[in-house]
Amino acid sequence: MLLFTPLTLNKSYLHKLCEQKDAMDAPFQRLVGRFVPVSLPSPGSFDGQTVLIAGASTGIGLAAAVHFAILGASVIITSRVASRGEAAKRHIIEAVGPSYNGDISCLELDLESYESCISFMAKLKTVLPDPAMLDVAILNGGMVNSHWEKSEAGW
Ligand SMILES: NC(=O)c1ccc[n+]([C@@H]2O[C@H](COP(=O)([O-])OP(=O)(O)OC[C@H]3O[C@@H](n4cnc5c(N)ncnc54)[C@H](OP(=O)(O)O)[C@@H]3O)[C@@H](O)[C@H]2O)c1
Repeated sequence: MLLFTPLTLNKSYLHKLCEQKDAMDAPFQRLVGRFVPVSLPSPGSFDGQTVLIAGASTGIGLAAAVHFAILGASVIITSRVASRGEAAKRHIIEAVGPSYNGDISCLELDLESYESCISFMAKLKTVLPDPAMLDVAILNGGMVNSHWEKSEAGW
């Protein structure tokens, strides 16, 4: 499974819209209906699985890492700065509690830098020798910029 998180939907806003569904036309109802009926997986449903979350030192990535750990997954989180990654790891351990059986690995990754991506892949192989061991990859790392700008690497 590969997930991107380009947008956070405001759930309470969507619920409000659903309450007013009589006022909506059918296509709009269908669109809102796609997002609202979310049933969350139960704790333990990711036992034994490994989830990679790029950009998990803060924000949506960190929240996702906590949730996957609560569901039982081992998580591999990344940050551009090792100390931020370690702080996120401590946060996850605290949030999940002592019953957690999974592993949390923290690797450095800067998606703006080709060298960092190559070095990340080498480190990832030490944590996950077989790519088939990876069950979910959430490629979340990044930022919102108000203007178009290329990285030094040219992308
Ligand atoms: N929140 C929203 O409403 C919203 C809306 C549209 C799009 N998005 C996108 O969703 C993603 C997460 O949003 P967020 O609000 O959770 O952002 P955030 O709180 O700023 O978190 C961004 C994460 O990405 C990492 N990151 C930043 N630049 C990176 C890079 N060059 N290489 C690798 N990792 C990098 C950061 O880690 P370090 O700084 O520790 O490296 C951090 O963990 C972003 O891609 C954002 O553009 C969010």
